[in-house]
Amino acid sequence: MSTLTKAPLGPLLDRLFKQADTAMSPAFEDVSAEERQRLMTSKTEYVDLYTRLKDFWLPVSRDTARLLYMLARSSGACQIVEFGTSLGLSTLHLAAAIRDNGGGRLITTEFEPSKVAGARQHITEGGLIDLVEIRKGDALETLSRDLPDKIDFVLLDGAKALYPEVLKLLEPRLKVGALIVADDANYSLEYLEYVRSAGSGYLSLPFADDIELSMRVK
Ligand SMILES: C[S@@+](CC[C@H](N)C(=O)[O-])C[C@H]1O[C@@H](n2cnc3c(N)ncnc32)[C@H](O)[C@@H]1O
Repeated sequence: MSTLTKAPLGPLLDRLFKQADTAMSPAFEDVSAEERQRLMTSKTEYVDLYTRLKDFWLPVSRDTARLLYMLARSSGACQIVEFGTSLGLSTLHLAAAIRDNGGGRLITTEFEPSKVAGARQHITEGGLIDLVEIRKGDALETLSRDLPDKIDFVLLDGAKALYPEVLKLLEPRLKVGALIVADDANYSLEYLEYVRSAGSGYLSLPFADDIELSMRVK
């Protein structure tokens, strides 16, 4: 059995995904498709956007969450960085993989204080807080310092427009073979062009549920 499926984490994840489903509401109901696209791709309005969305969990899908565990576990990832914690659903899956890989550290970052508190509570309940450092603040600042010498695995799931900038902060520390999962990366054409371009140092492809999966090759 893995940490993911046994107590306390297995039952906790069932409960939290159900809670996330009930908290889901069409926050963008009154927003036109054009305006939504503009907000999701803006490099300057992301604080406003996510402040507006602060009561929503916005988690990765259950399948993506499981995939994160599987990729991190099978690649033996022990040093993981996550951009976009929200209430900790993806964090719990990644931390479970670290536990089952023998230990390590997950740095995750979130700027909404109520979400930082909620994530901390969930990760504590899941018995994984000893592996997780939650950095409160904007990733452009919190991930610009004190990173592990070698990063094995990255999840990008914060403001989509910042994926190129966040990846570049982490890039010098990525080990050869590091995996980078970018959720909803289709909102950042700049990111897709970069990781798919010859010479950028990645192999990259669209994968599963709106994910771009990339691997560092140099
Ligand atoms: C899609 S949600 C993350 C969901 C989470 N990964 C999960 O699966 O449960 C994105 C989160 O990133 C946070 N965020 C967006 N831009 C950020 C930034 N520049 N720095 C820190 N947090 C950010 C938002 O407040 C939001 O909670």
